[in-house]
Amino acid sequence: MKGIILAGGSGTRLSPSTDSINKHLLAVFDKPMIYYPLSVLMLGGIKEIMIISTPEDKPRFEGLLGDGQSLGITLEYREQSNPNGIPEALTLSEDFIGNDDVTLMLGDNIFYGQGFTTLFRNAIKNHKHATVFGYRVKDASRFGVVEFDHNQKVISLEEKPEQPRSDFAVTGLYIYDHKAVKMAKKLKPSARGELEITDLNREYLKIGQLDVELLGRGFAWMDAGTHESLFEASEFVKITQQRQGFKLACLEEIAFYLGYISRNTIYKKGKTMEKNDYGKYLMEIAEREHSQQYWESIDRNPILGLAANE
Ligand code: TTP
Repeated sequence: MKGIILAGGSGTRLSPSTDSINKHLLAVFDKPMIYYPLSVLMLGGIKEIMIISTPEDKPRFEGLLGDGQSLGITLEYREQSNPNGIPEALTLSEDFIGNDDVTLMLGDNIFYGQGFTTLFRNAIKNHKHATVFGYRVKDASRFGVVEFDHNQKVISLEEKPEQPRSDFAVTGLYIYDHKAVKMAKKLKPSARGELEITDLNREYLKIGQLDVELLGRGFAWMDAGTHESLFEASEFVKITQQRQGFKLACLEEIAFYLGYISRNTIYKKGKTMEKNDYGKYLMEIAEREHSQQYWESIDRNPILGLAANE
């Protein structure tokens, strides 16, 4: 399974904050927005990840995250010259995807909740063709809306319908089989001049190959694309972190508990920012009394939400 994070776009709704910097480099509380989708793909066990952004911003992401080695993963970068639409992520990454399946995630989406890692890993393991994730929202008409039957087979998919057929929005996380690239190549731009991800999902629906995983009320799904939602997301992260003492989307912590990087690596990284809270947190992880083997030996690692055999 390959992973793609789409972190280009124009970010007009966040202007002027995004006039000279990419939206996904803005902070959601104490770390750049891109950390959140990257943490999701890492928790899913995906180790080969492509980050797509604008020609101006690509070097900034490379500067921030490098080749991924320090996190025990492989990161590649690609330019999207114009925001031509979400499915373009697939065609731009054709050689990277090859014959693999692919998980595509939008760079401004944040997922959090007990059991998310297990649910996502199971979705990756069990998916057949295309899987989208549905989340109940109050005002479904602002989103892509998915209607489904008792077997979680999708019945209909509508973009911003006036009269939604369900309360479930389609989130910015999509799992596809390798034929998605071919299918994306055949899409035509919509009236607003963009390739639409809903159109690709509809193609899967037409051939009876679209499934939906539902995220229950214990999950938080946010996108941080407006000033309001960015502020709310920051508040959510701040409050959750303060209460539990665990950081959300701390990439080094995830890499450490997945066994990708050593105690020494995480300590050294922390030391480079020891004056701030993030650096101190990394050093604390390295100094925690319990070893990785300890966490593996208990039923469910409360930090990653993973059982020992997952
Ligand atoms: P949007 O929020 O639809 O668009 P945007 O980020 O350009 O922002 P705005 O509406 O304020 O102008 O995009 C959803 C996500 O997908 C976001 O993370 C950016 C990303 N994206 C791309 O990287 N390339 C694209 O061509 C499109 C349409 C979106």
